[in-house]
Amino acid sequence: MSGPEIILEAIAVERRFVTRRPLFGAAAVVHAVNGVNLRVRRGETFAIVGESGCGKSTLARVLTRLIPASGGTVHYAGRDLGQLKPAEIRALRREVQFIFQDPFSSLNPRMTVGALIEEPLRTHGIGTRAERKARVASLLARVGLPPQSAGRYPHEFSGGQRQRVGIARALASGPTVVVGDEPVSALDVSIQAQVVNILQDLKEEFGLTLIVIAHDLAVIRHMADRVAVMYLGEIVELAPADQLFDAPRHPYTEALVAAIPLPDTGARRARARVEGELPNPIAPPSGCKFHPRCPYAVDRCATVPPELGPADAEGRQVACHRAAELRLDGLVATDTRRTPAAASRFELYRLARAAEAMPPDSSARKEGAPPPTQQGDSA
Ligand SMILES: Nc1ncnc2c1ncn2[C@@H]1O[C@H](COP(=O)(O)OP(=O)(O)OP(=O)(O)O)[C@@H](O)[C@H]1O
Ligand code: SF4
Ligand SMILES: [Mg+2]
Repeated sequence: MSGPEIILEAIAVERRFVTRRPLFGAAAVVHAVNGVNLRVRRGETFAIVGESGCGKSTLARVLTRLIPASGGTVHYAGRDLGQLKPAEIRALRREVQFIFQDPFSSLNPRMTVGALIEEPLRTHGIGTRAERKARVASLLARVGLPPQSAGRYPHEFSGGQRQRVGIARALASGPTVVVGDEPVSALDVSIQAQVVNILQDLKEEFGLTLIVIAHDLAVIRHMADRVAVMYLGEIVELAPADQLFDAPRHPYTEALVAAIPLPDTGARRARARVEGELPNPIAPPSGCKFHPRCPYAVDRCATVPPELGPADAEGRQVACHRAAELRLDGLVATDTRRTPAAASRFELYRLARAAEAMPPDSSARKEGAPPPTQQGDSA
């Protein structure tokens, strides 16, 4: 029996950081990623969600060998990343690329857009000069920027346009895996939809595997095939996206879903239950790390850590002692009562795509016209 091809596999992966406490200078250990097991399938969009500081970026960086794991193993296309030699790690950079949250700070302001997109090709010795120029022109076209953009500098573009440059640069070397760490969260919401749609189109066209981190669960629901929910360095639920949002099985997932703003009013759902801050990762709670904030906690939760169980028939995994008995609210429970308004938040992307299909018009500044000389909008 052959299942989907696994491009990335994490087995009991850990990443610790040693930090100094400010006042006394004593060393403290942050378990940013703690015993993570997961498999990313070739060609899927795999999302990682969770509150700020839960370890999403660290996990993505360990999975792609930007930083080494402190424990456990990561396999990329069957190779143990911990065993790679420096030259092999450099070669891996061609296959695994990042798109960062802030396209302005991640693009060298002194390089033209053409040079920025060409740089990965030169770094990896890909193509002749003419071939590289042709590749830059083709990538600019694919991300919806005019050819003359190649001679301009990042500050001459809007935030959305800069992120298009960031995408073109990430795709230049022909990667297999692209990691988007909050790729649209710095952008205005209408621009977000355009950039998300470009990413999805290019994923299909280039046969990419996408790993996406985003705070906006509407973005995740729109893009992801499967979602891993992280809490204090651990995966607490992993499931196909529709099922995770419609019928969460972990109380923390339920709380995240409940916190998605309602489409019509921007208000939060009535049953948002998670209160308080993420606990200090240096001294996490005993038992289930979520127990101090969990409305369903029982005595056992304070002492016995729940394991992420094996995948069920639907491919869902959950780390909660009460997963089998709890009936939690998801988008289905709350949104069907609000139809059709409930659908409008997720309609955003469909509308953006429809707008893209229209011929260029006076809004050409966004896509086609040469940028003005002053700094672009801050979207
Ligand atoms: N280089 C580092 N040195 C010390 N601690 C670090 C380092 N990088 C991350 N951490 C800590 O590891 C934990 C996870 O951080 P990480 O950046 O992975 O979280 P995140 O989920 O990506 O958060 P955000 O949503 O804010 O980007 C945090 O407690 C953070 O302070
Ligand atoms: S194990 Fe207990 S505390 Fe943890 S999520 Fe489940 S019910 Fe809540
Ligand atoms: Mg992060």
